[in-house]
Amino acid sequence: MAPKSRQGKATASRPDSETEAASAPPIFFLRTKLLPPRPAPELLSRPRLADRLLTNLANPLTLVTANAGSGKTTLVADFLRTHERKFVWYQLDHTDKDPFVFLGYLTFGIHQVVPDFGKATFAYLNESSAELAQQPERAVDVLINEVLEKVEQQLILVLDDYHHLGLQTPVHAALDRLLAYLPDVMHVVVISREVPPIALARMRTHSPDSIIDRADLLFTDDETRQLFRKVFDIELTAEQLAEYRERTHGWITALQLVRQVAQKTVRRSGQTGSTDLVEILRQSERDIFDYFAEEVFSDESEDVQRFLLRISLLDRIELDTCAALFEDSNCARLLPTLVKRNVFLTVAGDGPGEEYRLHPLFQSFLRRRLRSEVGRTGVADEHQRFARYFFSRGSWEKGVRHLLVAEDFVKAAEVIAERGAEWITSGALS
Ligand SMILES: Nc1ncnc2c1ncn2[C@@H]1O[C@H](COP(=O)(O)OP(=O)(O)OP(=O)(O)O)[C@@H](O)[C@H]1O
Ligand SMILES: [Mg+2]
Repeated sequence: MAPKSRQGKATASRPDSETEAASAPPIFFLRTKLLPPRPAPELLSRPRLADRLLTNLANPLTLVTANAGSGKTTLVADFLRTHERKFVWYQLDHTDKDPFVFLGYLTFGIHQVVPDFGKATFAYLNESSAELAQQPERAVDVLINEVLEKVEQQLILVLDDYHHLGLQTPVHAALDRLLAYLPDVMHVVVISREVPPIALARMRTHSPDSIIDRADLLFTDDETRQLFRKVFDIELTAEQLAEYRERTHGWITALQLVRQVAQKTVRRSGQTGSTDLVEILRQSERDIFDYFAEEVFSDESEDVQRFLLRISLLDRIELDTCAALFEDSNCARLLPTLVKRNVFLTVAGDGPGEEYRLHPLFQSFLRRRLRSEVGRTGVADEHQRFARYFFSRGSWEKGVRHLLVAEDFVKAAEVIAERGAEWITSGALS
């Protein structure tokens, strides 16, 4: 039986021989989704939390859950790097709600670490893709069996931004199954802004180290002092420390921002601080963020500001896409420079195919700002331009996404009618 294609592009380069095809990975994989974030240049390692991660490796699952910008991703990425563990890093987005896609990436990720791995699971996925939404557990059993057979060294599986999957997806059942029968050789780390709807009760009885939450992630006084001393090269007085605690409660994003703004104030006027900061820091996290983001943003040149506003409309910022869409900006030079200077832009992966990621809070700040500058029509025009580019590259699904954001439902419907039957069944357009 020929493998079923779940994505528009998938059939194009499948292997000729049917047996080979059945056990081959579907080819729509986006390599960048399996890349870990590169550690930020300014980083404080946090042994009290890393030790908990280490201790809990003996259990099947660690859940790291806290609001945006709490240092979840940084903590886990730093832990993996400093402890030199084998791992698969899977950056989730809304398209991973489909168990076929989810299990496909999982298998492909493990295959990248254990080259022998994947034949049996891919074969099963390809043959039973239609039933997967109803019974993802069976495919998980196949995967578990293959792990037992092929994976010999401890392997940590990180699912970052799990909250993107939302509440309604068979993936939760698949993950539950995986955790219930997880071979000892594997450990799963789920990173999420919200507590995911998986069977946590079982997990809690295992160990108190299984959950790292917002309260755990908040920087202690000691960590704040060290962060300023080691990373920012500033010695805080007891009063300053108390003020920062009062202002930020140890929320790392606010600490970073307060410090950036304070530095700028020093550069400008030779004084530290500003009296209304205390008031600002009493507001909601979004308002706090917007206040500081505005400060950081206004420091950039007009060209860079324009560039940041425009790239914020992209879901994924890949170098070649960026270079094609913004020909007048030197993306290859600009993006790495911004990463070095700005805490809001990070990069995943090395060399060609790398992907840049805007801090989600900064991205939504930029999008709101762009809209206030160019209006709905201006934003829609830009999305239309992106859509044309993606269509010209045969990236139909990405193109349609931009049409939908531009509210061009007629054109989107045309493309979907022509190409989209499989995407809809796969949940990619839900
Ligand atoms: N230990 C640390 N030392 C220095 N900076 C840190 C540390 N942890 C986090 N940060 C900084 O704080 C910001 C937020 O961190 P991070 O992206 O890890 O948060 P997150 O909880 O994963 O956020 P999100 O929910 O948006 O994914 C980043 O700018 C990061 O560089
Ligand atoms: Mg994160």
